[in-house]
Amino acid sequence: MENITTWAETVWEKIALKMSAQCDRLGASVPYAAVNGKYSDKMKENIYWWTNGFWPGMLWIMYNASKEEKYLLTARAVQERLDASLAGFEGLHHDVGFMWMLSSVLDFRLTGDKTARTRALHAASLLAGRYNPRGKFIRAWNRDCTGWIIVDSMMNLPLLYWAGKELQDPRFAFIASDHADTSLKNLVREDGSCNHIAILDPLNGALVETPAGQGYAAGSSWTRGQAWALYGFALSFRHSGEKRFLEAAERIAEYFCKEVSRFGFIPPADFKMPGDIIDTSAGSIAACGLQVLWQLTKNDEFLKNAVSILKAIEASHCIWDPAADGIVNMATAQYHGKPEERHVPLIYGDYFFMEAVNRLGCDHPWGLEINIW
Ligand code: GLY
Repeated sequence: MENITTWAETVWEKIALKMSAQCDRLGASVPYAAVNGKYSDKMKENIYWWTNGFWPGMLWIMYNASKEEKYLLTARAVQERLDASLAGFEGLHHDVGFMWMLSSVLDFRLTGDKTARTRALHAASLLAGRYNPRGKFIRAWNRDCTGWIIVDSMMNLPLLYWAGKELQDPRFAFIASDHADTSLKNLVREDGSCNHIAILDPLNGALVETPAGQGYAAGSSWTRGQAWALYGFALSFRHSGEKRFLEAAERIAEYFCKEVSRFGFIPPADFKMPGDIIDTSAGSIAACGLQVLWQLTKNDEFLKNAVSILKAIEASHCIWDPAADGIVNMATAQYHGKPEERHVPLIYGDYFFMEAVNRLGCDHPWGLEINIW
């Protein structure tokens, strides 16, 4: 552990330098994908975009570490911009947990700000409103996807567990745990790998089809989806205490660790794909989930694998020049996605790398004492 925290300390110093420069340069414009070393303002293009909460999340982690006011003021300015999406409503989706858990919930928990709490409760109520009581799931996306569930939604459940505790209302946890059960039944395979999407009959929840999603093909293993499942089920266990969620997280983690070690701990975009597309973001998300699992189970293998992934990413893909935007290169949005969203810094890759390193430093003054999710 000693040499792990020394490594984390060194990497944290580089993150802090980078974040200070990025905060001055980007301010409240909300980054998504860096093109030629430059982040642009995703919110100008799409106020509803699912990643719009990661930048304030990074700013709050920095505020906690440094107590520098510039981080608080910038995060709050982004949160005011996000209000337009709460008011607009119709473009919102299953990913409001990502958007408000890392912005307003973190704000409320670090500063006690009441406006932040209200915004986050509003978002949690919208997420709960997507629940299908016959099929027992939270529907993904909009348009005609009435019976669709996706593995990413597992990471949005902490917003519901948080709201339930805040309001002393068990309905939020009922919805979250029902959705986790439906995901366990329809998305997680026997060997610990996962589907990205399951289409269910919205009238009764019966499984219709498991099509391909952001990975290579139907039946393949989109790596970021495996990471969402690993982290999401670990968190569902931490919030609910339901043992079957822990068993699922362990099974998924064992699959993930076995696969990622075949690739030198740098994840491909899909564990069952042809070609050589990389997605570093999947590694950082999994490293966070593995650390939570290590805390829950005391199984040191989980921590060892988390550190191997983070060290491999840092050694080959971090961009430490403070003048360039983006902390971690070689993230990929989707296997069949746009070329400009492949092998570039993506804001959630930066966010989860930062969270993972911060977690390793939880005994240091710069480490967060609270559980973010
Ligand atoms: N929609 C979540 C993701 O692309 O991972």
